[in-house]
Amino acid sequence: MMSPLKMWCLLPFAVLLLLSITPTETEVVNEMSDCEGFLLNETLPNIPGVLEHGNIQDQNRYKVICQTYNDTRRFVTLYDTNNKIPVFSAYKYRGGQKERKRPPWMIEPQLEDTNDKNMQKSNKPAYQHQASNEDYKKNSDYNRGHLFPWSYGFERSDKISTCTLTNIVPQVNSFNNGSWQNMENCVKCVLEKYCNNSNGKIEGYVVTGAKPGTFKIKEKVNIPSMLWSAFCCYSQIEKKWIASAHWGNNTKYGPKYLETKTLEELQQELSTGNKRFQVFPGTQCPLKETVAKYYPEINEDFKIKNKNKKKETKFCPPQPTTTSPQPTTTSPQPTTTSPQPTTTSPQPTTTSPQPTTTSPQPTTTSPQPTLKRVPASDAPQH
Ligand SMILES: *[C@@H]1O[C@H](CO)[C@@H](O)[C@H](O)[C@H]1NC(C)=O
Ligand SMILES: *[C@@H]1O[C@H](CO)[C@@H](O)[C@H](O)[C@H]1NC(C)=O
Ligand SMILES: *[C@@H]1O[C@H](CO)[C@@H](O)[C@H](O)[C@H]1NC(C)=O
Ligand SMILES: *[C@@H]1O[C@H](CO)[C@@H](O)[C@H](O)[C@H]1NC(C)=O
Ligand SMILES: *[C@@H]1O[C@H](CO)[C@@H](O)[C@H](O)[C@H]1NC(C)=O
Repeated sequence: MMSPLKMWCLLPFAVLLLLSITPTETEVVNEMSDCEGFLLNETLPNIPGVLEHGNIQDQNRYKVICQTYNDTRRFVTLYDTNNKIPVFSAYKYRGGQKERKRPPWMIEPQLEDTNDKNMQKSNKPAYQHQASNEDYKKNSDYNRGHLFPWSYGFERSDKISTCTLTNIVPQVNSFNNGSWQNMENCVKCVLEKYCNNSNGKIEGYVVTGAKPGTFKIKEKVNIPSMLWSAFCCYSQIEKKWIASAHWGNNTKYGPKYLETKTLEELQQELSTGNKRFQVFPGTQCPLKETVAKYYPEINEDFKIKNKNKKKETKFCPPQPTTTSPQPTTTSPQPTTTSPQPTTTSPQPTTTSPQPTTTSPQPTTTSPQPTLKRVPASDAPQH
């Protein structure tokens, strides 16, 4: 059971672990293009008012953090120093090993006018340009939600690097460990099964962001109103580029599964006025298709791997056609807007957020950190 731990980066024994960690490095750079390797074709997302046509609209407010750990760049974040949350984190998925030990939460020293490149443990009550670990403590409604997920880190060092608060937003507990986590797990399976590049290696590009809301925690850190995520990759098996998008409100009582949407639908959701939002502009990523047609197969794999377990075997959102995956024809799905009409239905949205939370436990194939339970409160942090 991995769920509750996803957002705890500090387990009791992690303190010991810290002793063995060599200094970490992070770099605040001027342009997104100074941090290569994490965006598909090095193409920048287009985010109205923030990052338009490759230009950061307010250089004092939005900072590019080339998230570096142990002298290696791991992923890139565009950080909003006013709201003290990331705008998005982007990374190249290469597979994610199982790993449980969490490091302490860290911060980005270079945002605080120091030249120290080393990512540091968050050890001050407050910082001027970013959130501190204190800001997240003693909050029963929101926990620390990763944009670049812990479970997506390729190796341990990549995972550790996700535990910087510059990659974190205040996320409603039940959203983080509910529909959002189901989505992360499902997409991870898609990435591993379908995103196989021409070298036979797993390679997928993921961009995950947060839309700022109107409330703050500790009168300081913005609580995003919604989180979104999109991925795109070349699929050797399918001989084409595949992509999908997801988003969900950062509220209690959401659905059990997020609907799998097209890139175009995400674009529509986040465009403002005549300013267009785009995740992978100018690439071959399909705008009108989703990967929902692969879910029956993924759920089937999952079922086989877990046949000895009594738990419910659904994992990705249940699809109308459960037996056979839809034939992948050359033409895009005719009805792009409704690839999975039943996503919301399996959960009759009652008063309780997740009536069947225990059932679709992930654990599959994959390197999901199958962790022991940790109290679902702020307690484990020091
Ligand atoms: C840092 O990188 C070096 C060289 O790649 C490696 O030997 C070492 O284990 C890494 N340390 C950590 C804490 O990841
Ligand atoms: C998710 O978090 C909520 C609130 O902390 C908790 O009630 C629920 O049991 C958790 N669900 C899972 C699957 O861990
Ligand atoms: C990638 O695809 C090739 C051929 O389709 C297959 O042999 C290989 O095992 C796949 N690799 C991964 C990592 O899935
Ligand atoms: C988010 O909340 C809004 C307003 O309540 C609602 O219209 C919308 O459908 C919700 N979106 C999702 C993805 O649940
Ligand atoms: C990356 O850019 C090159 C050159 O513009 C283009 O030919 C290629 O199709 C692009 N790749 C994707 C995945 O869009």
